[in-house]
Amino acid sequence: MKNNTIENCRIIEIPKVHDERGSLAVIEKGCFPFEIKRVYYLYDVPSDAFRGGHAHKNLNQLLIPLSGSFEVLLKDGTSSNRVLLNKPNKGLLIVPGIWREIDNFSSGSVCLVLASEVYDETDYLRDFNEFQSFKG
Ligand code: TYD
Repeated sequence: MKNNTIENCRIIEIPKVHDERGSLAVIEKGCFPFEIKRVYYLYDVPSDAFRGGHAHKNLNQLLIPLSGSFEVLLKDGTSSNRVLLNKPNKGLLIVPGIWREIDNFSSGSVCLVLASEVYDETDYLRDFNEFQSFKG
């Protein structure tokens, strides 16, 4: 987990069915490499708000821009990468041991998060120096 790099984070394309009535995207077992134990979502986020600012020791997450767009800055202690999420059928897999910061939320955007574990504050690394020590 602590050896994960930003290369292990990737865009997951969610299969969709599109016809003249619109689009239907389906998330089911096998779409991505973890089982879902928790779902939460960010909404009513002010455009100048900054979310994240932490890493997780063991948690896998899939971030999906259900509506609108936002950007995710990923850091593994050595490299960083900024990812724009703006398509409801393209999610970002964030593996354990990756620092993330989320900003540039568009008006009315909704970020759905699928998580591999239930909420556990002891899984968070909220201090960047602590994160760097964790990464060794
Ligand atoms: P946090 O994970 O810091 O949010 P973000 O990464 O989006 O900025 O969580 C914000 C607050 O919400 C914090 O007090 C913990 C609480 N929280 C829960 O109670 N349960 C949860 O599942 C999550 C994700 C957060």
